[in-house]
Amino acid sequence: MNPIKIKENIYRLGSIDWDRRMFDALIPLPDGTSYNAYLIKGSEKTALIDTDEPSMKEEFMKQLEMIDHLDYVVSLHAEQDHSGCIPFVLERFPEARVVVSPKCKGMEMDLLHLPEEVFITVEDGETLSLGDKTLRFVHTPWVHWPETMVAFLEEDKILFSCDFFGSHLATSDLFVKDKIKVYEAAKRYYAEIMMPFRRIISKNLEKVMALNAELIAPSHGPIYRDPAMIIEAHKEWVDGPPKNLVVLPYISMHESTRLMVEHLVGALIDRGVEVMQFNLEVVDLGKLAIALVDAATVVLASPTVLGGPHPAAVYAAFLTNALRPKVRYLSIMGSYGWADRTVPVISGLLKDIKAEIIEPVVAKGAPTGETFRAIDRLADAIAEKHRADGLQ
Ligand code: FEO
Repeated sequence: MNPIKIKENIYRLGSIDWDRRMFDALIPLPDGTSYNAYLIKGSEKTALIDTDEPSMKEEFMKQLEMIDHLDYVVSLHAEQDHSGCIPFVLERFPEARVVVSPKCKGMEMDLLHLPEEVFITVEDGETLSLGDKTLRFVHTPWVHWPETMVAFLEEDKILFSCDFFGSHLATSDLFVKDKIKVYEAAKRYYAEIMMPFRRIISKNLEKVMALNAELIAPSHGPIYRDPAMIIEAHKEWVDGPPKNLVVLPYISMHESTRLMVEHLVGALIDRGVEVMQFNLEVVDLGKLAIALVDAATVVLASPTVLGGPHPAAVYAAFLTNALRPKVRYLSIMGSYGWADRTVPVISGLLKDIKAEIIEPVVAKGAPTGETFRAIDRLADAIAEKHRADGLQ
């Protein structure tokens, strides 16, 4: 990719990673991603906002041939998909200084082995003049690590938000065109890396909204010409109430748990409750994470195997607990042959979610009429709680 002009003296650099399918060896990327960097030429100083994934070094350094001098590398986030090319940039432009939050400085010394003297640290609200352009830094911790900040180019009203408002989407569009696709990708991104820090994200949203940006330029995915679109979406995801939705991740070995799940799904639909069923054998965990953004209730279903819940259910429970969705109610279902350890183990794995536990349903062997009546009672309880909370 060649540098793309956004406005006079402001360019998008970086690369589009069409083929990447996993991030952090954890997060599925069905649509690839991009690593966006931005170059700002002020009347006196030139600044680069973020860099590129190290594997893209060759393409990125070629883009920097458009300048012969660099004053600042503004590093908004220490994660290597944005900071990884800083050592190569400093090799090419030894005069440049790396502008970071105080916390980021230590992290980049650890992660990139950069010497202390290359850094300039900026406090929350501090500005940096490039001559006719001014960068204002706003500390926004936990979007997505504790050191993260955003930069606001005051004269052009562009917010460089790094991971905040990002979407893992490989696209040749510089600006958002397909809003539905970007919304979905941004929600997946939010769910997977920011949902655990909702309360802090809410505060960061307030800080960012006060800037009244006209463009939001994240470091993944296309640029927003309509900042309200993505800010309102984040407000809804972060602060909005959950929906009348049950998310039901499950796995089944010999059909018993699957029959229980299918019965619950039908019973919930009959009671006017939306439900999303995820078979953990084939699930895209990103889709499960997206569903968790809105869910009022999670019911996790697993057979007992090897003395406890199925490992796939353990993984789903661990992930759900780590993502800290705003669910209000939890329950567990499953079947067992001779020993039932599923409920206590899964309950323990979900302990950080402050939700009310609704009576689990377990069957010894294949589900019976009594099992299905218990599942009906579970559906009754869920529907009643959603109604009482004004969700349906
Ligand atoms: Fe895009 Fe947290 O790195």
